[in-house]
Amino acid sequence: MTPLASCLALLLSGVTHRHVKDWSDHALWWEKKKTWLLKTHWTLDKYGIQADAKLQFTPQHKLLRLQLPNMKYVKVKVNFSDRVFKAVSDICKTFNIRHPEELSLLRKPRDPSKKKKKKLDDQCEDDAFELEGPLITPGSGEPGFFCVCYPVLTIYRWLDSSRSLMEQEVKENEALLLRFKYYSFFDLNPKYDAIRINQLYEQSKWAILLEEIECTEEEMMMFAALQYHINKLSIMSSENHLNNSDKEVDEVDAALSDLEITLEGGKTSTILGDITSIPELADYIKVFKPKKLTLKGYKPYWCTFKDTSISCYKSKEEANGTPAHQMNLRGCEVTPDVNISGQKFNIKLLIPVAEGMNEIWLRCDNETQYASWMAACRLASKGKTMADSSYGMEVQNILSFLKMQHLNPDPQLIPEQITTDINPECLVSPRYLKKYKNKQITARILEAHQNVAQMSLIEAKMRFIQAWQSLPEFGITHFIARFQGGKKEELIGIAYNRLIRMDASTGDAVKTWRFSNMKQWNVNWEIKMVTVEFADDVRVSFICTEVDCKVVHEFIGGYIFLSTRAKDQNESLDEEMFYKLTSGWV
Ligand SMILES: *[C@@H]1O[C@H](CO)[C@@H](O)[C@H](O)[C@H]1NC(C)=O
Ligand SMILES: *[C@@H]1O[C@H](CO)[C@@H](O)[C@H](O)[C@H]1NC(C)=O
Ligand SMILES: *[C@@H]1O[C@H](CO)[C@@H](O)[C@H](O)[C@H]1NC(C)=O
Ligand SMILES: *[C@@H]1O[C@H](CO)[C@@H](O)[C@H](O)[C@H]1NC(C)=O
Ligand SMILES: *[C@@H]1O[C@H](CO)[C@@H](O)[C@H](O)[C@H]1NC(C)=O
Repeated sequence: MTPLASCLALLLSGVTHRHVKDWSDHALWWEKKKTWLLKTHWTLDKYGIQADAKLQFTPQHKLLRLQLPNMKYVKVKVNFSDRVFKAVSDICKTFNIRHPEELSLLRKPRDPSKKKKKKLDDQCEDDAFELEGPLITPGSGEPGFFCVCYPVLTIYRWLDSSRSLMEQEVKENEALLLRFKYYSFFDLNPKYDAIRINQLYEQSKWAILLEEIECTEEEMMMFAALQYHINKLSIMSSENHLNNSDKEVDEVDAALSDLEITLEGGKTSTILGDITSIPELADYIKVFKPKKLTLKGYKPYWCTFKDTSISCYKSKEEANGTPAHQMNLRGCEVTPDVNISGQKFNIKLLIPVAEGMNEIWLRCDNETQYASWMAACRLASKGKTMADSSYGMEVQNILSFLKMQHLNPDPQLIPEQITTDINPECLVSPRYLKKYKNKQITARILEAHQNVAQMSLIEAKMRFIQAWQSLPEFGITHFIARFQGGKKEELIGIAYNRLIRMDASTGDAVKTWRFSNMKQWNVNWEIKMVTVEFADDVRVSFICTEVDCKVVHEFIGGYIFLSTRAKDQNESLDEEMFYKLTSGWV
């Protein structure tokens, strides 16, 4: 039996006299079996190759058209025999993006039945392909591109990270999308991550513009103002660098990133005071339990927040007695319901109990009270107390998030001069373009802009990302699922720290399970069922109806993998660990 290597040597000896060429990137591809024959010490026999098998001797590196999160297309050479996880790592190295494990590749499924739709998609791709430079600049947006293309993204599918591009039938020159896949961004640092931050900003911007994630009207205007500000500063900095205009805006960002912004802010010590004891909150808060018939509307209670629990008493004087309500927020869902112009600062809590979730609403009086209680709720939901060093930062983030949405009743407008460089079509989602006249939106954006006008470019991008991260639906990837014992189709939401069972029609959480409580999970590939087991003998089983359960499996395994990253870890990832956690099949 001749090993593959000898066959290759023989094959090449026949051609090298004609071309002096480097064949080192070439390898054998068995099209029929969709497999690379990379183990050159194996024999043909071992690979099961018969005399009639057609093998291709083809380069491993091939061109891809890659659409970056900022919607720009670039051509890159990628190793088509590497597993996608490794290929993405290499791509990210090319673009100087740290933490490639957070990104992956999406592709459009081939579906010949949808001829008409396909035509539209292709047109989008071509349009996008021609766009050069920053996609959207103030006053010169591409509303056509935007409007035509926005429904398309949702039909893209994640590639399998543990198989190669070629094995997944990706063709040379095919267009794939590079996107952040896991919403758990490790160590985002303006000093090292100029390009990563910019791409993340772009992805979050499109998620908001395309209404892939819900936000309130006030939040939308804040995002629009930040975007307007970022566009403006980008233009200014590229104009300053006109004499080397071939430089990407990204590179300009890199220079600016030395400005080093500490978004960490918020001196924890001043807020926490004595850090030897666990801080507590105590105040009058209005409480509402929608399911209790006895409680109509909000009623004020004296509430204390200790460790991860809130106790509510009829009055301050009764705080030594038995509380009227008591709830432990560990593992709960915390959702804001805020309207700043209406001075409404509500916190919706969904607390897991045996039968499902208990719904409780807290109403705060003002921003200060809201920020400290909201921050405490968020930490408690993760099982952390206010003694955690992140508490002060969380309070500051909430306050600055609210501050950016403040109305400026007397904006110093210079109407003609400024308004000409605002193009609402690129700054707010279609819903608001329909709801308001462009002039009204422009005025709102200018108002909101005053809250952010002092920010540097990189700070504005960081604030944008941070605001996106604090939206209630942030970081949840949804799949249609059929739960064991359930009657109808529901949703399974996968976030970095938990699984959420959701009502498909309302999107409301029905039940939440934390990964920190998870014992194991597995997939029954035959019936395509994912089963997750938690402590206390809780088992959840569901079938994914619209995607391969490998995709869901990879999401869960991927988040578990990401949670193992150490603080001082830079580039050295345990790739084998990733495959182990995410590949259940051979
Ligand atoms: C391409 O990937 C394969 C599979 O991981 C590997 O064996 C090969 O060395 C890679 N080629 C290059 C040139 O890196
Ligand atoms: C052109 O670039 C050089 C070096 O990058 C810089 O010193 C100079 O000020 C620039 N000129 C203008 C007109 O911006
Ligand atoms: C927010 O409050 C203002 C003032 O009360 C009101 O006009 C507006 O409709 C509210 N917005 C929402 C979305 O409820
Ligand atoms: C916010 O509300 C709390 C509780 O009602 C009150 O003690 C505090 O003074 C208020 N702060 C501001 C800035 O209005
Ligand atoms: C991690 O990367 C940063 C920036 O590239 C570098 O300064 C630091 O020394 C690295 N840390 C380790 C542990 O390698």
